[in-house]
Amino acid sequence: MQNGTKGFVITIDGAAGTGKSSVARELAHRLGTDCLDTGAMYRAVAVLAIDFGLDPRGGEALALAIREKGIRFDWNDDPPTILLGGEDIARRVRDLDVSGVVSIVAQQPEIREVLVEQQRAIRELHPLLVTEGRDQGSVVFPDANVRFFLEAEVAERTRRRVKQLRDAGNTVQDKEIQLDIESRDKLDSSRADGPLICPDGAIIINTSSLSKEEVVSTMESEVHSRLQA
Ligand code: DC
Repeated sequence: MQNGTKGFVITIDGAAGTGKSSVARELAHRLGTDCLDTGAMYRAVAVLAIDFGLDPRGGEALALAIREKGIRFDWNDDPPTILLGGEDIARRVRDLDVSGVVSIVAQQPEIREVLVEQQRAIRELHPLLVTEGRDQGSVVFPDANVRFFLEAEVAERTRRRVKQLRDAGNTVQDKEIQLDIESRDKLDSSRADGPLICPDGAIIINTSSLSKEEVVSTMESEVHSRLQA
């Protein structure tokens, strides 16, 4: 799908477990755009902190380490593979120890500054882009062509996350995952820099009782009507 010569950017924000990643990928497939998973970038910084023994609260040192090591995507893969210092960390970023420190890392303004800059640079190279995260429509691309904000009940988000983790071979308890989701919501919504908020003018979709196909179809028709308007 084309939109003149300029391209377009579509943002999808929302809390953990609202289904952002899977609907973003499917929407990007249907529209023929690239898809950016910005959560993977914050997770890559958490990997950098853990695996290289850096303090996850040390924003300045970590920001420097990101620039030195380099966090990139291999866009030849679908979904694009996240690389740290050229090394494939796609599986590593989903590990539980990484999920445990990523919210701390995501609170550091110095880290957000570097990643926001990199996300805007990616947009320049990928002019047809669906991007998902917490701050994409509010901070990174306030001029996005279409902004979505996904919501879902905590119980449903817990169910989805538990399934995802068990499918990946992890042994987890429902209660542990629910507490993790609630504590991440709190941290994500209360941080001073780039908090999780519903961007102005965003289309809100509650995904609790909708299938992935239903969510993507709703989004696809919104995109078509907004881009044609
Ligand atoms: O979507 P996810 O679970 O992979 O995100 C991992 C963490 O990164 C989560 O704690 C929220 C944070 N994050 C963020 O602060 N800003 C973004 N644009 C994307 C993710």
